[in-house]
Amino acid sequence: MEKKNIDWGSIGFGYIPTDYRYVANFKDGKWDEGTLTTDPNVTLNECACVFQYAQTVFEGMKAYTTEDGHIVTFRPDLNAERFANSARRLEMPVFPEDRFVDAVVQTIKANEAYVPPYGSGATLYVRPYMFGSNPVIGVKPADEYQFRILTTPVGPYFKGGAKPITIRVTDFDRAAPHGTGHIKAGLNYAMSLHAIMDAHRQGYDENMYLDSATRTKVEETGGANFIFVTKDNTVVTPKSNSILPSITRRSLIYVAEHYLGLKVEEREVYLDEVKDFAECGLCGTAAVISPVGKIVDHGKEICFPSGMEEMGPTTKKLYETLTGIQMGRIEAPEGWIKVIE
Ligand code: PLP
Ligand code: COI
Repeated sequence: MEKKNIDWGSIGFGYIPTDYRYVANFKDGKWDEGTLTTDPNVTLNECACVFQYAQTVFEGMKAYTTEDGHIVTFRPDLNAERFANSARRLEMPVFPEDRFVDAVVQTIKANEAYVPPYGSGATLYVRPYMFGSNPVIGVKPADEYQFRILTTPVGPYFKGGAKPITIRVTDFDRAAPHGTGHIKAGLNYAMSLHAIMDAHRQGYDENMYLDSATRTKVEETGGANFIFVTKDNTVVTPKSNSILPSITRRSLIYVAEHYLGLKVEEREVYLDEVKDFAECGLCGTAAVISPVGKIVDHGKEICFPSGMEEMGPTTKKLYETLTGIQMGRIEAPEGWIKVIE
């Protein structure tokens, strides 16, 4: 398969349309068979529920080219499960989990020419999403839905690639309702747009959100969970039921314990104790593991000993093991890698 003529090494995290996308429609209480299409545009009624009441959910995953030339994706069953949870929380019909995985496989296969080559530093980002499509004016769920999957080749989420970033503790609240953490739908990305733009205007790469009830505990950032490393090399990650249960984080916990023999604590993390950690990173599908060099808390700087030039040593081991598994250099736990072809 001839790859597209794209300078893979220089792309950032943006939208580059590919040749095919997947579409399925829900009408009269059932999903149609679904199909691949070349049309990137969606035409909807002005009163579609997604426009009026934002009835929409999404997932994010990636396709990788392995060292031996296969195209694979990482734990798509977990995205399918979380997508179903998101749909249930927004009173949307569930797109069956096995069909979700099958549709992801079909879409990646159809866009094989856009899956960046091994070693290029880029990957194919896969974005399944669903929205209420028929007109609704009273506050109630739609009766008709569209499920779609788009793909786009991407490079690093943060500018500067693997260089440590600077984030700030924000007073903004994205208002993820307590207890909605098992879904992406409750996370309210629209409410995070002002916080992220404000952070950028002030020279920060991201926001650290605190728990909205007490504003003393670390939650997550706009698009990733936190991983900390203590001075005695324990991996610590915040426990909260209003953050996204990151598939990357769950995988890193396993990698830390079973591949690297590290102790892992998933517990409440207080902002007060962050200054005592040796390393900090942001983890997610888009972020992979992005090292954090500095956190600014209302003018007070917390500088991690790992500095602003490089990833901390344990973060680096986690990063290398996880990406090694994803790119086929290291043997994966049973069921983690879905071979597309
Ligand atoms: N937290 C938020 C708010 C996110 O948007 C994401 C990305 O989907 C994550 C965490 C990381 O989750 P995952 O590792 O499943 O991509
Ligand atoms: C992902 O990592 O897939 C996300 O949804 C995060 C988003 C900020 C791109």
